[in-house]
Amino acid sequence: MIKKINHIAIVVPDLNESMRFWVDALGLELDHIENVPEQSVDAAFLPVGESKIELLRPTDDESGVARYLAKRGPGMHHICFEVDDIEASLARLKSLDIPLINEEPITGSGGKRLAFVHPKGTGGVLVELYQLPPKNSPIPEL
Ligand code: CO
Repeated sequence: MIKKINHIAIVVPDLNESMRFWVDALGLELDHIENVPEQSVDAAFLPVGESKIELLRPTDDESGVARYLAKRGPGMHHICFEVDDIEASLARLKSLDIPLINEEPITGSGGKRLAFVHPKGTGGVLVELYQLPPKNSPIPEL
């Protein structure tokens, strides 16, 4: 079951410059910026109700996000849905022949489990699925 939109990720070439729109003009608050070495990005987190905007700036020239920026320019990179059972979600997508980037969930920071659905199966949008660890997990939720 889909619980909510967890985040919408947007690729930008410069985090400070992008704050001019998202913070100064639109009025969102910058919660924090963190380096995400697995994806070779700096990520700025801007909460919007129960969801957030994530601004991603590549920190190298080779990563997926860097290649996206070089090829397509800045813009929306992916939308992430939080689900309560990622195995069940992936099984259902497979049963309907939706192409997946991750056939099995991978473990991300804080113990969350995630998988990406290929844009060719979604009408052109990269879709991420997230299952957060249980609240009583010893691993802190990020
Ligand atoms: Co994401």
